[in-house]
Amino acid sequence: MSKQFVNRKNELEYLKQRYSSGQAELLVIYGRRRVGKTYLLTQGFHEDSVYLLAEESETVLEDFSTILSERFDDKILKENPLRTWKAFFTYISEKAKDERLLVIIDEVQYVAKSYKPFMSVLQTQWDTHLKDKNIMLVLCGSLMSFMEGTLSGRSPIYGRRTGAWKLEPLKFLDLAKFHDVSIEESFNIYSVFGGVPQYWRDYNPEQEFWDNINRMLFSKGGRYYDEPKYLLREEVREVSRYFSILRAIAQGTTTFGNIASKARVNSNSLGKYLSVLEDMGYIEKEIPVMSKKGRYIIKDNLFHFWFEFVYPWKHLIEKGKGIPEDVKKHFNLYLGRKYEMVAREFIEANDELPFKFSKLGRWYHKGEEIDLVAVEGEKGMFFEVKWSDLNVRDVKKILNDLERKVERFDLKEKYYGLIARNAPKEDLVFTLRDIEMLTHE
Ligand SMILES: Nc1ncnc2c1ncn2[C@@H]1O[C@H](COP(=O)(O)OP(=O)(O)O)[C@@H](O)[C@H]1O
Ligand SMILES: [Mg+2]
Repeated sequence: MSKQFVNRKNELEYLKQRYSSGQAELLVIYGRRRVGKTYLLTQGFHEDSVYLLAEESETVLEDFSTILSERFDDKILKENPLRTWKAFFTYISEKAKDERLLVIIDEVQYVAKSYKPFMSVLQTQWDTHLKDKNIMLVLCGSLMSFMEGTLSGRSPIYGRRTGAWKLEPLKFLDLAKFHDVSIEESFNIYSVFGGVPQYWRDYNPEQEFWDNINRMLFSKGGRYYDEPKYLLREEVREVSRYFSILRAIAQGTTTFGNIASKARVNSNSLGKYLSVLEDMGYIEKEIPVMSKKGRYIIKDNLFHFWFEFVYPWKHLIEKGKGIPEDVKKHFNLYLGRKYEMVAREFIEANDELPFKFSKLGRWYHKGEEIDLVAVEGEKGMFFEVKWSDLNVRDVKKILNDLERKVERFDLKEKYYGLIARNAPKEDLVFTLRDIEMLTHE
């Protein structure tokens, strides 16, 4: 199994910069559960940090005291655990002297859960002494509502925080480096699990693809059998509300009004639910290029796959029947939609295209659609994405159709292209092999 540290270049750069800023830093790092926050902070960054992981318990402060006493070899502290959070901050403040002290509080929402005024105490302690110390304090967590709370103007640490970073999922091209499998298999894995490295890690490349999927998702008691429900339960209170909204979107309901009626949610409150789901990275309001009217889609592949293929078959899975035939039959169609994500990443990463662009996205209007459109000023590049093997005639036909659709665009320079699973070589016609080439870079 791979153990290497993948990507996170920008994040590491950012953390290193802050570490050497010469000022007291109070950073917030947040993001989806399993996206790699803890791994980034503990494996990627600084070995000499004080790492404090809060558990969902009433004894957080005692646990932290124990860790501190070991870290600083402090026998007095070992016998006399800290009794207040004020004492905790005084203690770390005293330790931040000549050498810069990096303190990471992970799953910080559990601290605030066990002691509500935690953030206010931090605020006072920051203002009175910590801000002048040689310290970098990182608050890390994944409970969105809480983390977003610490970022808002109402939060006690508002104005103290010196930086915040939302950790996003990794990319397909990272996955292709993570597991030593064929590009086809990487793409299958990505389509099911998206850019979440914990799922990648639990995927066993020695096993067949469908055996992995069966073990992880289609077995009662399997690790991710109930994953979306588990993740929602961790993060929100009204799980069933969020659940029906996600389900409606997964079934292809894309507009605000339709989601409200399908999920039976009052349209006055739907906006709030949608924005929470968007913050958590599970859905996205996709705004097409050269238009304002967006539509809601599932962004997280694991959620998409689960709602499409696991949830509807639960009655069979519960009986231990494994993966239903229907799932394998429809999987290729599902891959077709996911290929658009990969194609998009390929276009973003490809620096040999006719021009550099600032806007890239889908375009649709009155039943017509173009999979990928890149624009810059008076120039446009248009791509169709096809998860199939094309011959010369297919390519010609697709490009002709594309050219017709593009007639409506009043641009000076237009380019037409195609990203297929397989196709004969031609200018701006790319295949999975071309995408594979990028993974070797
Ligand atoms: N950059 C990375 N490179 C390789 N593996 C990673 C990376 N980030 C995370 N992982 C894997 O994913 C697992 C889950 O990440 P973790 O940091 O625990 O997620 P989080 O703290 O966001 O819930 C890690 O244990 C590690 O195996
Ligand atoms: Mg973590």
